[in-house]
Amino acid sequence: MAQTGFPALKNDLILKAARGEPVERVPMWIMRQAGRYLPEFHEVRSKHDFFSVCQTPALACEVTLQPIKRFDLDASIIFSDILVIPQAMGLIVTMVPGTGPVIPEPLKDPSDLARLVQPNVEKDLKYVGDAITLTRHKLEGKVPLIGFTGAPWTLMSYMIQGGGSSTMTKAREWLYKYPEDSHKLLHLIANVIIDYLVMQVKAGAQLLQVFESHADFLNDELFEKYSYKYLKEISEKVRQRLKEENVPEVPMIAFPKGATINSLEMLAKSKSYEVLGLDWTVNPTEARERFGPDITLQGNLDPCAMYASEKEIIDRARNMVAKFGKTRYIANLGHGIQPDTPIKSVAAFIEGVHSV
Ligand code: CP3
Repeated sequence: MAQTGFPALKNDLILKAARGEPVERVPMWIMRQAGRYLPEFHEVRSKHDFFSVCQTPALACEVTLQPIKRFDLDASIIFSDILVIPQAMGLIVTMVPGTGPVIPEPLKDPSDLARLVQPNVEKDLKYVGDAITLTRHKLEGKVPLIGFTGAPWTLMSYMIQGGGSSTMTKAREWLYKYPEDSHKLLHLIANVIIDYLVMQVKAGAQLLQVFESHADFLNDELFEKYSYKYLKEISEKVRQRLKEENVPEVPMIAFPKGATINSLEMLAKSKSYEVLGLDWTVNPTEARERFGPDITLQGNLDPCAMYASEKEIIDRARNMVAKFGKTRYIANLGHGIQPDTPIKSVAAFIEGVHSV
């Protein structure tokens, strides 16, 4: 079943860049490229709630393709959310307009771990696999399809905090107060992630991104213990499982947003991931110097630079590519695109990168 019967791929620039092969031009995609800055996305969302879109393969596919139809991007990313894993583990997650994701009954202390269930990923998250398979067909080989997941610490922090937070204090409290139970929870989540990523590749994902969106709350000690350990394990086990099941490996991207430069260096040098995503606070020249030539870097224009004039966006995009260099590089924003980003800014960003 795996990776067979799909239309031939016409643009493999991002896969080449991920593997460190030379490319004719720098590939690019945009985090949250299917989203609220697109009127056609609002059109779908006016009729369906957020998780219904995720759970209905035809709708998830439609929304995934929206930015690909409009722009000259080099990759698509399946429309879903990182919080489908906590849902599959038994927690209620709702998307509250203007607030974001909310978990009304978060984990309060380790006794709440008993509330979590061990999902059957192939069954409970089958809708994601089905959306991936459908999208691979509908893409007609135009660009590769990226599958994704949240990383264990980011998912754990949502499960404890119950939603977004500027401090994540409840989640960090667990790391100091209940270190063993924190590891227990991270381990449970990591096992689900491994099954989930393997399932996504079998369904047709050609690249995988692991979002550690809450790395900014971790110092080097906490990052090593509670993030890096699991990121590394996920990469190793996913590759091992794919090998055992005779499924060709796919490149993997880790995006530990807000991680310190030391933490990023540790992850880069571990060679667990082909690609390291960088947020906009990381200096490209320093990143290249510290992480060495054996890793592809992805990023990292400040999403708020998209509010500048088109000319300035083009200049900044070109300048960014010049700093990272054209090999072992995937252009992107340094985090998800803002919902009020002008469409013409997106076109300018793409033009800037592709004109180098
Ligand atoms: O990139 C894509 O086009 C694929 C879709 C995608 C979504 N969420 C759709 C979405 C991806 C890759 C994600 C990942 C995700 N979800 C992350 C990791 C990336 C990051 O931003 O750090 C996180 C932390 C989440 C959790 C989440 N989901 C938040 C914090 C929010 C609210 C964001 C906001 O600005 O309101 C969501 C909702 C969400 N996920 C939206 C979309 C398009 C907007 C909600 C809507 O349509 O009503």
